[in-house]
Amino acid sequence: MQDEPAPNDLAIVIGARGGIGAALLETLRTDPRWPHVIGFARPELNLLDEGSIAAAAASLAGRNPRLIIDATGHLHDPDGTPERSWRQIDPAHMARSFAINAIGPALLMKHFLPLLPRQGRSVFATLSARVGSIGDNRLGGWYSYRAAKAALNQLVRTAAIELARSHRQAICVALHPGTVATPLSAPFAKAGLTIQTPADAAAQLLRVIADLTPDHSGHLLDYRGEVLPW
Ligand SMILES: NC(=O)c1ccc[n+]([C@@H]2O[C@H](COP(=O)([O-])OP(=O)(O)OC[C@H]3O[C@@H](n4cnc5c(N)ncnc54)[C@H](OP(=O)(O)O)[C@@H]3O)[C@@H](O)[C@H]2O)c1
Repeated sequence: MQDEPAPNDLAIVIGARGGIGAALLETLRTDPRWPHVIGFARPELNLLDEGSIAAAAASLAGRNPRLIIDATGHLHDPDGTPERSWRQIDPAHMARSFAINAIGPALLMKHFLPLLPRQGRSVFATLSARVGSIGDNRLGGWYSYRAAKAALNQLVRTAAIELARSHRQAICVALHPGTVATPLSAPFAKAGLTIQTPADAAAQLLRVIADLTPDHSGHLLDYRGEVLPW
């Protein structure tokens, strides 16, 4: 007797209780193209605990997700806010930013990219930020967040190259969601700035993801599908 074929229409959202993550999860759950949707969040999956990441990935053994979205991230917390000047650089704040915005997603790549099916189209997308673009940096400031997201972008590029060797139709990208009304952006929302609702941002990001081809792999794109400079 043959085994049941593994379901291959599984979508995963990591950071599923965040502003954008929760909206992505909800939107995917109402989309008939994704009958199976699983969200991971703290404390089950904590980016600061590799064991929890490995256990979350192991819980999906044999499932072969075709879509993995990492919607985690860190800009501020009670112990630190983005720097306006180099005078405000604080090693503990910078280390936290790198741990959550760059090293954590790198560990997600380590444990979740091997789950992508070897045949057919699949997508790993991590939410980065336009301010992580070095080429686009005109305002300065936000040293830790900018540098950690720039590191994330480099990790995406590097993982995309490795992924393409074994998974020819897999796509690994960084996505800028735009300015979205969430706890992360709330202290910095200025009058006159276009701010999207999490539901609108999720819908736009999922449209961009649906249109991605392997040629986009290793790039940073915004919520309109425009490729941004590194
Ligand atoms: N909102 C914007 O305007 C904007 C603009 C550009 C880029 N982005 C990017 O979009 C992504 C999502 O941001 P958001 O606006 O939705 O922010 P958010 O509401 O603050 O969500 C961030 C998520 O990251 C999770 N997280 C933080 N530390 C974690 C850890 N150690 N382990 C596991 N999960 C952790 C949080 O988990 P808990 O729920 O447990 O706290 C939360 O679910 C981030 O990468 C952010 O940089 C957002």
